[in-house]
Amino acid sequence: MKHTDVKILFSEHQQFIDKSVTVCGWVRTWRDSKSIAFIELNDGTSLKNLQLVIEKDKVSENIVKPALVVGAALRVVGKFIPSERNGFELSVEDITVLGGCPQDYPLQKKHHTLEFLRTIPHLRPRTKYFEAVFAVRNALSFAIHKYFNKNGYKYVHTPIITGSDCEGAGEMFRVTTQPWNAKYNNEEEYFADDFFGAKAGLTVSGQLEGEVAAMGLGKIYTFGPTFRAEHSNTTRHAAEFWQIEPEVCFCDLSDIIEIAEDFIKFIIKDVLENCPDELEYFNERIEKGLIEKLRSVTESGFGKVTYTEAVEILKKSGKEFKYAVEWGCDLQTEHERYLTEEYFKKPLFVTDYPADIKAFYMKQNPDNKTVAATDLLVPGIGEIIGCSEREADLEKLKTAMLKRNMPLESYTEYLDTRKYGSVPHSGFGLGFERMLMYITGVQNIRDTLLYPRTVGSL
Ligand code: 4AD
Ligand code: MG
Repeated sequence: MKHTDVKILFSEHQQFIDKSVTVCGWVRTWRDSKSIAFIELNDGTSLKNLQLVIEKDKVSENIVKPALVVGAALRVVGKFIPSERNGFELSVEDITVLGGCPQDYPLQKKHHTLEFLRTIPHLRPRTKYFEAVFAVRNALSFAIHKYFNKNGYKYVHTPIITGSDCEGAGEMFRVTTQPWNAKYNNEEEYFADDFFGAKAGLTVSGQLEGEVAAMGLGKIYTFGPTFRAEHSNTTRHAAEFWQIEPEVCFCDLSDIIEIAEDFIKFIIKDVLENCPDELEYFNERIEKGLIEKLRSVTESGFGKVTYTEAVEILKKSGKEFKYAVEWGCDLQTEHERYLTEEYFKKPLFVTDYPADIKAFYMKQNPDNKTVAATDLLVPGIGEIIGCSEREADLEKLKTAMLKRNMPLESYTEYLDTRKYGSVPHSGFGLGFERMLMYITGVQNIRDTLLYPRTVGSL
């Protein structure tokens, strides 16, 4: 079906002015009067609608009538002309209704609440809000690939079905084709009889396989879906979310922190450049000062504080936190947000966490209490990146795993990376939807995903 994208009509308007063009799209709104009717048409390529002007003495009533329906899909032929009010509009010559839309179409109003829209995920992409969200989601993905590509990283695809729980937090979804049966005497027999002959699950992180790839390719990144059966019913947790995980050899914690900061600044700058209309919309509609915030993030340095210092700051804050702070405790969102929003007032790397609250693979610091790890916290959200230098010493790594009761025999391949030509290396995981929330100001992770999966909701 030959037609021109509305985005192209606007961006390359010179070549279309006063010419006849064909456009396709859905009716967002319409107005009618005796001699003239107007339709706001949107085709999903541009946040801007194209205004269709229908002069009734030029187009017959039986063509116009069926087109004046919110939600209907149209193909329209008309002359593209400059307009004082809209910049450009289409003076309609002919309309074909591609798909009618009955009165029970739920999107009759201009604004619907996000809660309501969550009940109709299959229709949400037809609203301006979600058109903007998915446009930025697309641009952000592209920016991420651009950054790594330009810096010589290889994009690797790590498995989604896996046997190892990277984060060791027991939040893996099981993958099985085997119903439990009374013939099994124990779990081992049951797993042995399953599809893979072993216990399998959906990956919580591509890191362990990413490390394997980096140990030959030097620097890699993954960008794929990860899954967590966390029961945290918050606005920042999804059971299925996307993660970007670079892994870099010959790189220590301070190097990877530099890379993470450079990366975050690059992708924000790129989205600022490529999504001006969408960001303008979010700036107006969701977060006043959003664009200013993003600009200033790209222009100034991020903060850096050790966990131990952060605990002192929190204790001295005089704030009534729901969870009390003591050295050794995991920082809660309320603590993270105080640090980044109120105390430092900028993105903040908190480094050198207690080993006991972090994963087995992190490099142990000489103090034997903390690990060379960092979380990047941002105002409004809290943690968006989990990062660490990896333990490169085979014996230390084994000790850390045994301390956590991990079965070494299930990790022999991973341990081989430390046995054969081990090198200092580091990496991080950026939560893609959390980054998207930060860039758009969207408050709930459910509104960044086409089909959000959360506890109790598929
Ligand atoms: O801090 P996490 O658990 O780190 C890892 O998975 C490491 N293996 C990463 C690495 O070093 N390669 O998760 C990384 C990020 C978090 O900072 C957060 O932004 C996001 O993933 N994240 C979630 N996002 C949405 N919903 C959830 N349930 C999330 N859990 C983590
Ligand atoms: Mg984390």
